[in-house]
Parts: sequence; C-alpha cells; structure tokens
Amino acid sequence: MVKEFLSRSVLETRDYARQFAAGLQPGDVVSLSGNLGAGKTEFMRGIAQLFGCDDQLTSPSFSIFNIYRGKLNGRPVTLQHFDLYRIETSLELEGLGFGDYINSDAISVVEWGEKFIEEFPPQTIRVHIETVGEEERKIVIDS
Ligand SMILES: Nc1ncnc2c1ncn2[C@@H]1O[C@H](COP(=O)(O)OP(=O)(O)O)[C@@H](O)[C@H]1O
Ligand SMILES: [Mg+2]
Repeated sequence: MVKEFLSRSVLETRDYARQFAAGLQPGDVVSLSGNLGAGKTEFMRGIAQLFGCDDQLTSPSFSIFNIYRGKLNGRPVTLQHFDLYRIETSLELEGLGFGDYINSDAISVVEWGEKFIEEFPPQTIRVHIETVGEEERKIVIDS
C-alpha cells in the first residue's frame, strides 16, 4: 500500500510520523530515504515522540547507531536508529552487526536505508521524503 502526504512544516512532519509510528509493531523495519535535509531525522523524532523517548535523541546526530528505550501503552518498546550516510559497503554494514539488530523484536528506523535496501527484509516499510519547497515535503510511505 502506498500513502502520500504533503507536509508544510517540521511540526506537520513530526505529527505525521507520530501517526505512522502508532501503526508499528515490534520487529518492524523502516527505511527512510530522501536527500540531505529532507527531514529523515525529523521524521524519526516524531516516531521517538510517540514512544516517549525523543528526549534521548542525540542532536545533532553524528552517530551511526543508537538504541532508545521507549514505551507504548505502558509496554516497553526498543527503538533502534541507524544512519547509514557514512557507510559505504555492505561489508561495513555487516561489521556493525546490522542483520542481527534488524532481525529482532525492536523497531528499527534506518536513515539512508535505500543505499543497502537489498540487505533489508522484504517486509521493510519504505518512507521516502522529497523536498518540494522551503518547508514543503512530500512523504511517501510504501508498506
Ligand atoms: N516540512 C518539513 N519537514 C521536515 N523538515 C523540514 C520541513 N520544513 C523544513 N524542514 C527543515 O529541514 C531540515 C531537515 O533536517 P533533517 O531531519 O536533519 O534531515 P535529514 O535527516 O533528512 O538529513 C531541518 O532543518 C528542518 O527544520
Ligand atoms: Mg538525518
């Protein structure tokens, strides 16, 4: 199923990401694509808000991998956040233990996931963010 949303501000992007996150299940993998500055990290921030762990987000995020402990309806949720911008080869990705991390009960959100999409499980939810204007972003969710 493909869904499209036109966001007109950072807050709209975060709101939309929160709604999106409400439909996530343990074990889900989300690949975020879009150019630098498209809003991938902002989308991730919205997801983290829903799970009540946005205060744990490192900003600015220069790291490749972070794990956050969140909650949904009182139940613990583990949120894994990857940023593959600086990863160049699948060998490097393997070296991080990527496969083991994403094949887990955690919810995984991967910025620049499309670079290595062949390493992802087939049921991966793909979110593409396209810069349309200064503050307009087209968000396309393919699940
Ligand atoms: N509608 C919007 N949605 C998301 N970010 C937006 C929007 N409009 C402007 N921005 C700005 O675009 C930038 C997005 O940054 P970031 O989320 O770090 O991008 P990425 O992770 O894709 O490189 C932020 O500076 C944010 O304020
Ligand atoms: Mg980012």
